[in-house]
Amino acid sequence: MKNKVKKCEGKLGILLPGLGAVATTMITGVYAVRKGIGLPIGSYTQIGNIRLGKRTENRNPKVKDFVPLASLDEIVFGGWDIFEDNAYEAASNAGVIDQQLLDKLKPELSAILPMKAVFDKKFVHNLDGKNVKSALTKMDLANALIRDMEEFRVKNACSRLVMVWCASTEIYLEVSDVHQSLEAFEDGLRCNHPQIAPSMIYAYAAIKSGIPFANGAPNLSCDFPAMVELAGKTRTPIGGKDFKTGQTLMKTIIAPGLKARNIGVDGWFSTNILGNRDGEVLDDPESFKTKEVSKLGSLSNIFEPELNPDLYSDIYHKIRINYYPPRGDNKESWDNIDIFGWLGYKMQIKINFLCRDSILAAPIVLDLALLIDLAKRTGMSGIQEWLSFFFKSPQSAPGLVPIHDLFRQLMKLENTLRHLQGESLITHLGLDYYEK
Ligand SMILES: NC(=O)c1ccc[n+]([C@@H]2O[C@H](COP(=O)([O-])OP(=O)(O)OC[C@H]3O[C@@H](n4cnc5c(N)ncnc54)[C@H](O)[C@@H]3O)[C@@H](O)[C@H]2O)c1
Repeated sequence: MKNKVKKCEGKLGILLPGLGAVATTMITGVYAVRKGIGLPIGSYTQIGNIRLGKRTENRNPKVKDFVPLASLDEIVFGGWDIFEDNAYEAASNAGVIDQQLLDKLKPELSAILPMKAVFDKKFVHNLDGKNVKSALTKMDLANALIRDMEEFRVKNACSRLVMVWCASTEIYLEVSDVHQSLEAFEDGLRCNHPQIAPSMIYAYAAIKSGIPFANGAPNLSCDFPAMVELAGKTRTPIGGKDFKTGQTLMKTIIAPGLKARNIGVDGWFSTNILGNRDGEVLDDPESFKTKEVSKLGSLSNIFEPELNPDLYSDIYHKIRINYYPPRGDNKESWDNIDIFGWLGYKMQIKINFLCRDSILAAPIVLDLALLIDLAKRTGMSGIQEWLSFFFKSPQSAPGLVPIHDLFRQLMKLENTLRHLQGESLITHLGLDYYEK
């Protein structure tokens, strides 16, 4: 089993549709780490350890020393945005990273200029920008993106590319006939089908070119049969949806704990205020619906009410996001959880998380880019469920229920890496001790 993974050779190009708060925070972080003026905190691949073998062996290497990942020095960034700002200007506008640090990295950041975006205001009502491609058909737009990627690859002498969607949340769309097969989808691209959103055009362009695609927003993007079919055909790894940060991260940490202790739950009310551009986009009810659906799935999946209706059959789960400009990227969330214990006695938990949205999301973008590149070099293709750890609403194979519990997701992630490197999987059973 050992040495399943091809070594990294040459440069990795990370392509980002959407050079907004999350993308520029990630890029800035990578440059800061490269210069030795920042630490990659929150990044599983850069700062995380993985236990190997028996506990007595004391083998806990850094993940990046255990599996062959692209090193930060071998990464080149590119992207598209509807605004013409370079990455330095976009990061300054986003207001996440101190200006002092941005100024130290100004030459590198200013060199990243957004390519013209594929955009349609019908899918993101609250945004308007000029840096947008025009073409007769959606297929022409997909081909233009394919050309962009190839030009980028040649210009930057990259041996591999990956794409991570960091652009805005689009309006809510459901899977319809045009998404059911590759043939229907390609016909739809040629005849400008109204149910094909820009994020799907980017996903199509990447996957068609064999470029791994990870989706950081709740948009359908690659989560429908036609894209899964294409990924199978081009042997391309894909994954989504929606970076797991903030409130949902907390939910998927706390809910498994309550479940483990067989504590009942009556209700979970979650509300947020945030004032960045993402918040502005989500102020539109149609974009909010996409986010809401993505956030709602986690609790019912973790609590499995069908297995224990006495505890979880009647949970009232409500989520609100309010756009509140004074807070910028510093989101504040409140959760009220109504729980019950022994003999049904009621209790409450209150969580008030003062988080920084893009600070939590940036390491996820980097980890996904490096791990989905690893998947490609390993010969893995299609939906990469082992990357569910990073997603709010994990894409899973048809007929499979996605895993939301952060700890199960971590076990799957770690065991996949152990498996790839020919290490034994860890079950925490310790049988040899008891059977001595
Ligand atoms: N920050 C978080 O914690 C977090 C968590 C989960 C998901 N997300 C998602 O990540 C995405 C990015 O978040 P953000 O805070 O950086 O938002 P942002 O608004 O700062 O950045 C998004 C950028 O995408 C651009 N854009 C929109 N449509 C585009 C298109 N079709 N092509 C190219 N560019 C386009 C916008 O102009 C903007 O600059 C959002 O969809 C958000 O919902 C963020």
